[in-house]
Amino acid sequence: MKTLDSISALKGTHVVLVEGSKDIAALTSSGVSGDFVCVQSGGGPVRAAEAAWKAGKSAVILTDWDRRGNILADDLRTNLMALGVSYNTRIRDTLAFLCGPYAKDVESLDSVILHLEKSLLGMRGVGMGAIIVVEGIDGTGKSTLCARLAKVLAEEGYEVESTSEPTRGKVGGLIRSGAFEGVSQSTEALLFMADRNDHTERMAEAASEGKVVICDRYFASTLAYQSSGLDGGRADMDALLPLCEVFAKVPDLTILLDADPALTMGRVRSRGEDVSKFEEAGFLRRVREKYLALAEEHGFKVIDASMGPDEVFEAAMREIREVLRCIRRRRSTRRRARSSRGRG
Ligand code: TYD
Repeated sequence: MKTLDSISALKGTHVVLVEGSKDIAALTSSGVSGDFVCVQSGGGPVRAAEAAWKAGKSAVILTDWDRRGNILADDLRTNLMALGVSYNTRIRDTLAFLCGPYAKDVESLDSVILHLEKSLLGMRGVGMGAIIVVEGIDGTGKSTLCARLAKVLAEEGYEVESTSEPTRGKVGGLIRSGAFEGVSQSTEALLFMADRNDHTERMAEAASEGKVVICDRYFASTLAYQSSGLDGGRADMDALLPLCEVFAKVPDLTILLDADPALTMGRVRSRGEDVSKFEEAGFLRRVREKYLALAEEHGFKVIDASMGPDEVFEAAMREIREVLRCIRRRRSTRRRARSSRGRG
């Protein structure tokens, strides 16, 4: 797990202030090496701060985050500040976040480490991988949302891969270049599908390595856009669906950002961007309807994109956390079943 690795990486340059000697034992047994200072056996926050000062190093505060731990962390901060020692609580905050649901029961860092090992470290190789797709008509804020989701999930310790369609690969590049301008909507759908074929393999591989893949547009884009009668031509949705089954993969979560084209087109124009052939109000209205019907049929999570970016982000994170929790639960149940079969 990244957070534990980054504690090891502090060795030599930082001292890590922990509450008790049991905490050092817990960290060491989890493979973390470091220059630890124990607050309890060292005589409290003042002595611990002095030890950091004497070592001439910056400090990381890694006490428990139960009520007592928070008071202790505050004391340490005050004393370190008085001695002019710089300190960092980011790692503490990250661990606190990961252990959020357990925080009220946490008595010692020991039990937290145990929990982390059980729920996260044990999944190395098995992978916490997931494919999360964000869909919506242009101007719903997909790109902004995807970038923010990727940043925050990475800060929380997930390995994240950001991607989008049309891709920047060979077929996607040709689509973007406009080389196929003027082809029918069915041909265009097949081109998007060909681009998707390679892309799906790459995404599945990343997910199997344990990465959380955030993908801006996927097969629902083809189903919604190419069957909505651009220039009077449309691909047959019933012909496209079986192709999706062959060349795409059902994502773990699809978020649909939904808003009225009157609003989204205004947003696109205010960005000063060129309006593409796809951005015509009547057409986009039909695309929106298709998207909403697909959402109903395939269980996409619909988020009202007329809300502010923070609210949209919070709503999307709630959905993602729920999905990641389910995946984690599913995998640990499977692991338990495997190991009990092994014993039996
Ligand atoms: P867009 O998400 O706007 O890409 P970027 O912001 O990187 O340029 O996608 C470009 C357009 O392609 C968009 O208007 C929707 C359209 N599109 C389809 O019509 N079908 C598809 O299958 C995909 C993936 C995109």
